[in-house]
Amino acid sequence: MVTRPSVALRRVKIAGLATYVPPRLLTNADLEKMVDTSNEWILQRTGIRERHIVDPGVATSDLAKEAALKAIAQAGITPADIGFIVVGTTTPDMMFPSTACLLQHKLGAAHAWGFDLGAACSGFTFSLSVGLQMVASGLHEYALVVGADVMSSIIDYQDRATCVLFGDGAGAVVLAPAGDGEPHILGVANEIDGSGGPALQMPAGGSLRPASHETVDARLHYVKQDGATVFKFAVRKTEEISRRVLADHGLAPTDVSLFVSHQANRRIIEAAADRLGFDERTVIINLERYGNTTAATIPLALEDAIREGRLKTGDLVLLASVGAGFTVGSVLLRWSL
Ligand code: UT7
Repeated sequence: MVTRPSVALRRVKIAGLATYVPPRLLTNADLEKMVDTSNEWILQRTGIRERHIVDPGVATSDLAKEAALKAIAQAGITPADIGFIVVGTTTPDMMFPSTACLLQHKLGAAHAWGFDLGAACSGFTFSLSVGLQMVASGLHEYALVVGADVMSSIIDYQDRATCVLFGDGAGAVVLAPAGDGEPHILGVANEIDGSGGPALQMPAGGSLRPASHETVDARLHYVKQDGATVFKFAVRKTEEISRRVLADHGLAPTDVSLFVSHQANRRIIEAAADRLGFDERTVIINLERYGNTTAATIPLALEDAIREGRLKTGDLVLLASVGAGFTVGSVLLRWSL
């Protein structure tokens, strides 16, 4: 671990980005056989066609490792160069040790420390905010920021209101100091509002309701959601936090080249984008093929944007997320790859 405290903050850039989804598909047609739903309902109400789901025995750290190794290679470094790892996840491999520790070992990142960050669908934006400080402060040269979730491990495949929404996946970025004149991360704006907790939660398995026969019988180890409440909050706060982070930097929605929202529901993204005045050329929506992968949606969308030739070096990119908690996150950056 390099410890080099410094007073002046350094500029920080994304030096590598990669994602991973498990190969197995869960399609709307598959779900039609499992619960009382239809491809039409799912597509119309959410925009999702299919999701990727792990095979038994595959955990969050496994998906994270695949994404992280590629991101590290793209940054032109090795795992031994990483000083800090943060893993945004709601589905750690287990309560402890942290997924960051498991990942550090799997990567052979011998000089890194780190931890998990629990912010649900804001897992990536919050983790990016933390990793940014580690490099900006001079404490580390390279930080590995991961958003990874195996949502299929906490989804009730008898509950049609939630099981159609989620998928599994991982994304990772490597953060490094930006050189003079290089595009870099401009800033972040984040909020939490714990009054929204009951609207989206997994009630059991923690210290309040440890696992028992009763909690299992009552299906309390699964995601429970008041969809309409989350929907309205997400639309309102996605707009608010986006305007805030832009205003903090003297910028306006018209300056944005690419708006990368958390991917939970096509209608949420379109409503927020509409309020911000973004047209479809500015917005990426890729949840059709992945569903809501919680902490992984934003890197997955960034990678698809690159693949589609929609991101150029220097472009102004706005990331925004709303998730359980409630958590609200945003990151504004100039694209550096
Ligand atoms: O990232 C943060 C995590 N989550 C979110 O952002 C999700 C936010 N919420 C949503 O995306 C939407 O609220 C949902 C997609 C979850 C639900 O869409 P909605 O338009 O709000 O539907 P609703 O919950 O008001 O349900 C409408 C109807 C209900 O039937 P009744 O009561 O009107 O007869 C539901 O029972 O649709 C029914 N329904 C379904 N029907 C077919 C709910 N789920 C399904 C389903 N298939 N899978």
